[in-house]
Amino acid sequence: MKHYPVMLGEVIAALSPKAGETYIDGTFGNGGYSEAFLKAAKCHVIGLDRDPNVQCRATELAAAYDGRFTLIDTPFSKMDQLDSIEQVDAVILDIGVSSMQLDESERGFSFMRSGPLDMRMSQSGPSAEDAVNEMSRSDLEQIFRVYGEEKRARRAAELIVRARSESRIVTTGGLAELLEKGLGRTGKIHPATRVFQALRIFINDELRELYLGLCAAEAILKPGGRLIVVTFHSLEDRLVKRFIRRRSEAAKSGSRYQPELVQEGPSPSFNENRRSVVKPSEKELAENPRSRSAKLRCAIRSDRPAFIRDDALLPSVPFLEDYGWAA
Ligand SMILES: C[S@@+](CC[C@H](N)C(=O)[O-])C[C@H]1O[C@@H](n2cnc3c(N)ncnc32)[C@H](O)[C@@H]1O
Repeated sequence: MKHYPVMLGEVIAALSPKAGETYIDGTFGNGGYSEAFLKAAKCHVIGLDRDPNVQCRATELAAAYDGRFTLIDTPFSKMDQLDSIEQVDAVILDIGVSSMQLDESERGFSFMRSGPLDMRMSQSGPSAEDAVNEMSRSDLEQIFRVYGEEKRARRAAELIVRARSESRIVTTGGLAELLEKGLGRTGKIHPATRVFQALRIFINDELRELYLGLCAAEAILKPGGRLIVVTFHSLEDRLVKRFIRRRSEAAKSGSRYQPELVQEGPSPSFNENRRSVVKPSEKELAENPRSRSAKLRCAIRSDRPAFIRDDALLPSVPFLEDYGWAA
């Protein structure tokens, strides 16, 4: 399937690329955003991706835009820990899986064509097969409920536990089929959709990566630097929205009539543009239906210090470490 960089025009408008500036494209993927930034101005782009398969495309860009593009194979949550990166003018995150990852059945992200039950973006660590065959029923239920927003989470977990007691579940097709048979079709979407989403988020630790990525961006953005995030489902969007709101409203409390109630909070580390949530245009929706749930949010870094990290924005769910699995 053709690769469309989602909401590219809107991302460029939010970024407003300028010569001499440095940007982090934290989710390089097929390089659609990076290439558009490099074309739009004589800027420098540092691409990050935890999928080693993007290397080939990165080599092409490095050759075509000599000296202005580099790729670092690392999760974006660590962008503030790299010696080679100092302060930057923008951080752009396009959260989720790429069309290349989705379309390749060997990667195990999709059940449209059966493949190994893998789903690991970094191609290392535990896989979805490990999660499905080794996690307790109640933990599976919880991740399906929280990460998949699946109403029939308990039933889905029970079906899996029953099936795996007969034989290990090893393919996307096998898992999708047992869920389809056991849950039945109720709406337009395939009954396995939400369970697959939940497993993918769990295995790639996506929500914590997103939260740590936002904190890391806060640490390395220059005053005036832009944070631009494109998300694809409500769990991610809610996290980005709350993060930006918390950090832009920090000191704005109290009342003009009861000034004694004013609470001293940290100074806002971001300025939020209240109308900053943007959705894809009708034209884009017609050309690329996969963009239908995309949302873009942006905020501008202030000159105030970064907040102290607290994990209150993360849902309470089992994490990989609970099983002794490193991310
Ligand atoms: C939706 S695609 C990005 C597409 C890209 N904007 C383009 O125009 O081609 C998301 C990419 O981000 C990568 N990714 C997801 N989570 C990541 C993380 N925590 N750290 C680094 N890369 C990540 C995935 O491997 C995937 O290649």
